Amino acid sequence: MYVIAHLSDPHLDGSSVPRDRLRSVLDYLKAFSRPVDVVLVTGDLADHGLPSEYAEVAAEFTLDVPVLLLPGNHDISAPLRAGLPIDSPGQGHPVHQVRDVGEARFVLLDTSVPGEDHGLLSAESLEWLTAVLDEPVDGPLFVAFHHPPNKLQHPILDQWILQDAEPFAAVLRGRPITAILTGHVHNGISTTFAGHPLLVAPGIRSTAPLPFEPAAANGLVDTGAPPGLALHIAAEGQPLVTVYRALA
Ligand SMILES: [Fe+2]
Ligand SMILES: [Fe+2]
Repeated sequence: MYVIAHLSDPHLDGSSVPRDRLRSVLDYLKAFSRPVDVVLVTGDLADHGLPSEYAEVAAEFTLDVPVLLLPGNHDISAPLRAGLPIDSPGQGHPVHQVRDVGEARFVLLDTSVPGEDHGLLSAESLEWLTAVLDEPVDGPLFVAFHHPPNKLQHPILDQWILQDAEPFAAVLRGRPITAILTGHVHNGISTTFAGHPLLVAPGIRSTAPLPFEPAAANGLVDTGAPPGLALHIAAEGQPLVTVYRALA
């Protein structure tokens, strides 16, 4: 059995509210009788991309298990690379990574576009991804990034998803991918993309209600909804199982 704790969107900014919400999730994980195999955080690590915020991210995510961090639209490549233990080819933007943790491989993509809220992968990024996916793998294979490509039928969030997703889907289609893991829309979501499961982690900082939910009357995000996470459980010969938890 292999367990991924999938967190997203802590938006740390030096203030106590996001830090306390993240700590409630990490304290919950630390109390497990069986440690998770890896913690994956799918972006919007910092709220403004400041060096001081990455120092806070690094301090909060000092855990006894491997932690995989990837950027979102609130992150900025240079301070992120400088402040976090990131092993990514090249310099500056984008910050793509390949990480093997135990028997699982994680391809961590940077879908952010500097200065923009929506996501996009360049032709060069897709070339890099194709070469990575051409390498044979034996264990579970996860492709993780910030911006999901699927519309939620939400008039605001749908403007900020991954744009021009078809060339990306063409690279992913037919590959032995266990699941695609994303964040950004501050909701726990299960859907599909390019023929693979696409699982979105809830937002730690806040939840974005659907337009017809009562909390939508108060704005785009509900900061009173509890932080949450996804636990993805992989076992050989079994379909991936995902458990979503909200921590009141
Ligand atoms: Fe976010
Ligand atoms: Fe985001």
